[in-house]
Amino acid sequence: MDKRDNQNYSMLIVDDEPLIRESLFEIFKIEGFRVQMASTAEEALILMEKNPVHIVITDLKLPNMSGLELLQQVKKDYEQAEVIVITGYGSIETAVEAMKIGAFEYITKPINDSEIKLIIANIVQKIRLIEENTALKGLIAKDRRQSFAGMIGSSERMQSVYNIIDSVASTNATILITGESGTGKGMVAKAVHQSDERRRKRPFVEISCGALSETLLESELFGHVKGAFTGAIKDKEGRFEYAKGGTIFLDEIDAFSPSLQVKLLKVLQDGLFERVGENVSRKADARIIVATNQQLTKLVDEGEFREDLYYRINVIAIQMPPLRDRRDDIKPLADHFLEMFSRANNKTVKEMSDEVLALFKSYSWPGNIRELENAIEGAVIMAKGDVIQLSDIPNSTKFEEEDGSKSAEIKSLKQVTEQPERDHIISVLNDCNWNRNKAAAALGVNRTTLYNKMKKYNILDAKK
Ligand SMILES: Nc1ncnc2c1ncn2[C@@H]1O[C@H](COP(=O)(O)OP(=O)(O)OP(=O)(O)O)[C@@H](O)[C@H]1O
Ligand SMILES: [Mg+2]
Repeated sequence: MDKRDNQNYSMLIVDDEPLIRESLFEIFKIEGFRVQMASTAEEALILMEKNPVHIVITDLKLPNMSGLELLQQVKKDYEQAEVIVITGYGSIETAVEAMKIGAFEYITKPINDSEIKLIIANIVQKIRLIEENTALKGLIAKDRRQSFAGMIGSSERMQSVYNIIDSVASTNATILITGESGTGKGMVAKAVHQSDERRRKRPFVEISCGALSETLLESELFGHVKGAFTGAIKDKEGRFEYAKGGTIFLDEIDAFSPSLQVKLLKVLQDGLFERVGENVSRKADARIIVATNQQLTKLVDEGEFREDLYYRINVIAIQMPPLRDRRDDIKPLADHFLEMFSRANNKTVKEMSDEVLALFKSYSWPGNIRELENAIEGAVIMAKGDVIQLSDIPNSTKFEEEDGSKSAEIKSLKQVTEQPERDHIISVLNDCNWNRNKAAAALGVNRTTLYNKMKKYNILDAKK
């Protein structure tokens, strides 16, 4: 057995007798394993929550929670972990019971060094085989995935998104997801959480940062104490606390104010935060995923976003491709939504006509998948037969790309009132060089309102 390989495996030794605990610790440390110790089952479970453990060696007799109960819990929460139980002379029945629950092996005291080393070697061999097997399966599956964690798409661009998710899911690395509105950033964040064996059992917390004022956002994230501000009538836990052991997804991270940026930086650097109105530092223990449809480097250049924070969040970057860059995914996506809305509306719509598909494939989809989803929903509702026809598409001329030959169709009231508002916002943004604070002030609305309008009208930053 190569000792260097052993450092890939972590071991946890649980025994209330310091002598046994420490001698096992020494043996396996020399063998090259990453070894941790605990004197109670409770402590062992806390350690396991923090870091993945491959092998647990536990005494059956422990102060409160027994080794048998620990075994049960480990097998329930961490299927892959292997457990060896140590039993005293004359308690073979319990050892047998442990084997039934799923212990890998039991050994009796006094512990024989070469016996336990041999058992560990067998476990390592087993783990390696499983690892090789999953790697192989991954290779085969990686051939081309049609979908991943509910996301549809087999394009090259999506394959690399899936592969990144696969490789980062079980790490603690902060992830930055960028992409235009409606490209599936939210779905990717959930997929990361779902692909993480440990965290998926814990909460996934999503916060739309652009929708909250600075004060509300801070208290939402970090919590507050009674009296911290008007309306803070009692202590409140923040979402960082709630997301403990899970994932926190900060959407529209560009909306973070300068002072909140500093606080987030502290979480990323030191893992610490404070409730609003309190001086006690608390530990943050959630995987952080952030998303934005803005170009953060540009906000950094403009001094709106801290550079140090940018580097902290940009550890792993996932760029969501716009739908127009993966047109081959349009059909499978459309089919997926067709089936979904057909069922939801008790319709029997099964497919789109060739003309509709051609139209959809040629359109630029500025609102990306969300826009496609909405278009299909409207079409399914309007459909008269089993096949969606051009005439079923509400507003179908929208999909004919502006080539100047558009006829003067009759506009709906909504178009008449919303179009000027959209145009005005764009022109003011232009005047303010796309500085949102200035534009919001010029328009006489707050930044959040402007933000929401930009989202509603699909106004993308022109300077991107
Ligand atoms: N690959 C996909 N397969 C199926 N549905 C998808 C896919 N990507 C996105 N969707 C759907 O499209 C809609 C928009 O996705 P999502 O909210 O994740 O996008 P977003 O990038 O976060 O958008 P925004 O920036 O506006 O918040 C959702 O209803 C989502 O379920
Ligand atoms: Mg989103």
